[in-house]
Amino acid sequence: MVRDVAIIIASQKVEHYEIATYGSLAALAKTLGLYEAANVLEETLLEEKSTDLSLTDLAVMAVNKEAKAE
Ligand SMILES: [Fe+2]
Repeated sequence: MVRDVAIIIASQKVEHYEIATYGSLAALAKTLGLYEAANVLEETLLEEKSTDLSLTDLAVMAVNKEAKAE
């Protein structure tokens, strides 16, 4: 379970990198007047945020506690 905690942490690092990238690209697209691209990027941004929250829930609700018990 401790290894699973490490996997979740590594996965959340990736999600946060993606969130920063898609958020910045969406803002840039809006500045450039590329609203259709901005919409797609914001949709993807929401998916990344949702995945990040799911990973947090998984860690907090189960995996962290199971790792503590080992
Ligand atoms: Fe992702």
